[in-house]
Amino acid sequence: MANALSLDSVVLSQDAKELVILDQTLLPNEVKFLRLSKAEDIWEAIYSLRVRGAPAIGVAAAYGVYLLSAQEDTGDMEQFCERFKAHKSYLDTARPTAVNLSWALNRMEKVLEAEKGSLSVPQMKQRLLSEAHAIREEDIAISRSIGRLGFELLKPGDGILTHCNAGSLATAKYGTALAPVYIALEEGWNDLRVYCDETRPLLQGARLSAFEMQTAGVDTTLLCDNMASLAMRRGKIDIIFVGCDRVAANGDFANKIGTSGVAILAKHYGIPFYVCAPTSTIDMSIPHGDDIVIEERKPEEVTEMWYAKRMAPEGVKVFNPAFDVTDHDLVTGIITEKGIAYPPFDVSFKKLGIQ
Ligand code: MRU
Repeated sequence: MANALSLDSVVLSQDAKELVILDQTLLPNEVKFLRLSKAEDIWEAIYSLRVRGAPAIGVAAAYGVYLLSAQEDTGDMEQFCERFKAHKSYLDTARPTAVNLSWALNRMEKVLEAEKGSLSVPQMKQRLLSEAHAIREEDIAISRSIGRLGFELLKPGDGILTHCNAGSLATAKYGTALAPVYIALEEGWNDLRVYCDETRPLLQGARLSAFEMQTAGVDTTLLCDNMASLAMRRGKIDIIFVGCDRVAANGDFANKIGTSGVAILAKHYGIPFYVCAPTSTIDMSIPHGDDIVIEERKPEEVTEMWYAKRMAPEGVKVFNPAFDVTDHDLVTGIITEKGIAYPPFDVSFKKLGIQ
């Protein structure tokens, strides 16, 4: 089985004509890359979680809006800008919660706005391409910085609990919540233990985090989400690292459904709970976690997906939010690439230069 760290979750093809993504819906059973160039296919890949995880979605969106704009054959800058904005608005509707999607698209638009007066359309296409590449390259560096800061919080032999997948697959490489483990491996540590919450209903913990950690040679244990309490009670968990999709200005954050329960348990058992967040995931325009839009997904993800046959009565009502909000007072610290923010978060975000 391929080492997950060697698999690129999202890149542009050599000829810069296709978005190449690892189809994460097929993992861990099949490693298959998709080559996408049509708007509907790129949108669908994000919506269906073929490419997923906040930073990876941002990279896919940046390459996506470049590709679609580069296909426009107008030489007129005004028309080009209109077409760019239409592609941007369309891709922005694929998923609502991860701020990185709109963050990356807005960053691409800023380049367009700032340089449209001085560049020809072909030059602008090149400029957008280099910006999309920069977003991906920066994401790799950011993940490594988060990994290093997280690593410094670890002791040899620690048991780490993680929820969902905020690993290499969810970013351009290394991940956020799993990055400290990759750094530990580079440092020659081989006695960390990683516990992966299964993460119902889409099983990102079982299919992706367990796959990443096991193929990296880490001592990996999979548990159902409702087993985390006992694992903590029995002293198996020393620290918790999770990713996030959007952090509000007060430090509340949205992450995969089930995260807030893990944070509440961690407080009960006195276990440090850290959120790993590139600063691009911090949305200072949102004052409070309750203002974050929570994606709701189709009922079949709960009633029948992954089962050989349906496991719920026909017609039963289903509540299927993809994310939940964790209150900032349950968070020990937020690990960004610029440093670790500790409560009160409004003050520490300012100190880190986040605005
Ligand atoms: O629905 P998903 O799989 O995209 O949700 C992913 C998460 O919740 C991750 O924890 C988050 O995006 C951070 S990834 C570094």
